[in-house]
Amino acid sequence: MKTVICPGSFDPVTKGHMDIIERASKLFDRVIVAVLVNAQKNPSFTIDERIQLLKETTGHLENVEIDTFDGLLVDYAKLKGACAVVKGLRAVTDFEYEFQMSMINKKLCPEIETIFLNTSQEYMYLSSSVVKQIASAGGDISKFVPAEIRDKIVDRLVNI
Ligand code: PNS
Repeated sequence: MKTVICPGSFDPVTKGHMDIIERASKLFDRVIVAVLVNAQKNPSFTIDERIQLLKETTGHLENVEIDTFDGLLVDYAKLKGACAVVKGLRAVTDFEYEFQMSMINKKLCPEIETIFLNTSQEYMYLSSSVVKQIASAGGDISKFVPAEIRDKIVDRLVNI
């Protein structure tokens, strides 16, 4: 059984993330979506809120689980018996950072592979921070986040 980890901040989950999670769920037996801490980011949603949003958007995917871990991604991957980490790559701008992370993770734990899936073309431009900017300014985020969580994201960001 091939288990992979889809790690990220998911602050909040977008249609771009869902595209990667759904495609990973078709490729592997078990996909664990892990909400991890990115030390370079200052999140808007709590870990519990991000987990709840992910649970609502992935309920239809039988081989997908949502979890969190406070530590190194490779330690978590080993703990879960995962063979690889799956990440989405949007444009060239993502490449340097993601490449560096994958090299560091390989040094830390050579047996865990990093697999990049190209983001589908319609989500190349999309990021959680763009969604937060639009929602906070009263814009329509329907095209960018799963329909079932749109109102929750808007309520949360407008009522800060
Ligand atoms: O969605 P993001 O913010 O691009 O995800 C980045 C994330 C959370 C996957 C990355 O920061 C991470 O792996 N954090 C856990 C700590 C870790 O293992 N860091 C890499 C070695 S420095």
